[in-house]
Amino acid sequence: MAGPYSRVALVSGGAQGIGAGIAARLAGDGWRVVVADRDPAGGAPSGGRYVVCDVGDEAAVASLLQSVAVTEQRLDGLICNAGFMIRKPIAELTLGEWSSVLTTNLTSAFLLVRGAAALLRSVHGAVVTIASSRARMSEPDTECYSASKGGLVALTHALAISLGPEVRVNCISPGWILTKGPEPTAAEHAFHPTGRVGRPDDIAGLVAFLVGPESGFITGAEFVVDGGVTRKMIYPE
Ligand SMILES: NC(=O)c1ccc[n+]([C@@H]2O[C@H](COP(=O)([O-])OP(=O)(O)OC[C@H]3O[C@@H](n4cnc5c(N)ncnc54)[C@H](O)[C@@H]3O)[C@@H](O)[C@H]2O)c1
Repeated sequence: MAGPYSRVALVSGGAQGIGAGIAARLAGDGWRVVVADRDPAGGAPSGGRYVVCDVGDEAAVASLLQSVAVTEQRLDGLICNAGFMIRKPIAELTLGEWSSVLTTNLTSAFLLVRGAAALLRSVHGAVVTIASSRARMSEPDTECYSASKGGLVALTHALAISLGPEVRVNCISPGWILTKGPEPTAAEHAFHPTGRVGRPDDIAGLVAFLVGPESGFITGAEFVVDGGVTRKMIYPE
């Protein structure tokens, strides 16, 4: 396909945290990276483009993808990473709070993929969704977040079947990835079978693989990247 760039990625929620790690990794690998985030103070890695966008907003996503079609003129990798958690006892959780989490964490992926499907198909691109190990296990008071991430895992395999063979769609479910907050304690690191909690680079490296040519036989898959925690059997002392 003609256009000014050879490989273009769009990363939602890339102003900070895991998304910023993904954007930096792909930019370092030579991708043109468009970061879409609702934070007006964010930025894109060198050589990229930053768009202030609430990816749960239908009109904003349409405008974002129109700008990609005009400016970058192609889309090879779409990384649906934007997400947040509200942790509250269910008796206190309002419908508005529930809906806001579902909209950002799940509906945004529907909006982004629906709007980007034609661009992705034309270059045999790939989608990566960022879910969570909380799609499969829970702490108390995490209903809206867990439900949104479980939905994202299911949406991923549905999309893989609908958009193949041109477009591959895979999911990464991170465990504890340190992006902000205090350094974990020695015990928290040691609890992980890997001996440490995760870093954004741990997710970014797998994203780079999943949007690259070496993962051509992988679609509809979920990769749990959690330092082994969901494989650890725990009994009371
Ligand atoms: N950090 C972890 O331990 C962890 C674990 C499992 C899953 N995840 C998932 O990984 C993703 C990134 O997490 P993080 O820890 O880097 O979060 P973060 O809070 O550090 O960054 C999230 C980014 O998404 C943006 N964002 C939120 N809602 C948005 C919206 N509606 N539109 C556009 N941008 C929006 C924020 O502005 C922010 O820049 C999330 O989907 C999160 O659920 C994180």
